[in-house]
Amino acid sequence: MQQQQGHDHSGHGVDHIQRVVRLTTKLCQQENVAVFVPVLAATLHDVIDDKVVTNVAQSRLALSVFFNQQKITPKDQKAVWQIIDHLSFSANLKQHYVLSLAGQIVQDADRLDAIGALGIARAFYYGGHKGQPLYDPAIKPRSNLTKTTYRKQAVPVINHFYEKLLLLKDELNTVSGKKMANRRQQVMLDFLVEFKQEWQGQV
Ligand code: ADP
Ligand code: NI
Repeated sequence: MQQQQGHDHSGHGVDHIQRVVRLTTKLCQQENVAVFVPVLAATLHDVIDDKVVTNVAQSRLALSVFFNQQKITPKDQKAVWQIIDHLSFSANLKQHYVLSLAGQIVQDADRLDAIGALGIARAFYYGGHKGQPLYDPAIKPRSNLTKTTYRKQAVPVINHFYEKLLLLKDELNTVSGKKMANRRQQVMLDFLVEFKQEWQGQV
């Protein structure tokens, strides 16, 4: 993970993984789930993703070699693959996957890191990385995103809140995750109100 994501500047760096691991650990405690598989999946959830690595097949092979070297049991390996293959927002755009409880926790942790104050920070960081404008009131948010349109178009960062970030709260799986999401949602809503008022020079 450190090798693949140590130099990432798109919001999928090691710091993202560390936050997702902390959230995963917290949610496991609250939901009474053993931490080993969820923490392993949280640590590895982006190492085989095409947005982070160029050669996905090579990364998948490296990961299965690593699992065997570390003597991870076949059962745990299977559980981790099942989670990391079906976790992401983009993987679920076309078809909705049902995850194990461990997977639901990691997915909640990953989604929580995309909302709230951190979600705001990551959205603008990502937008800067991709050359997106901050805001353009003339460009309306899109609906019905596919994986290609979601990734490819250089939309204003503010639109990303309406196209994805504000919708994530209702996608959370666990009770504990939902509670945390509600608080983070309010932070984003307050931010958007303030942002638009400042944009117009009203406040
Ligand atoms: P996932 O890992 O769930 O597939 P992404 O890689 O698309 O999600 O998103 C990772 C981070 O980058 C998130 O914090 C997300 O909000 C942000 N991001 C993705 N697309 C955009 C965009 N078009 N504008 C601003 N931020 C974005
Ligand atoms: Ni992630």
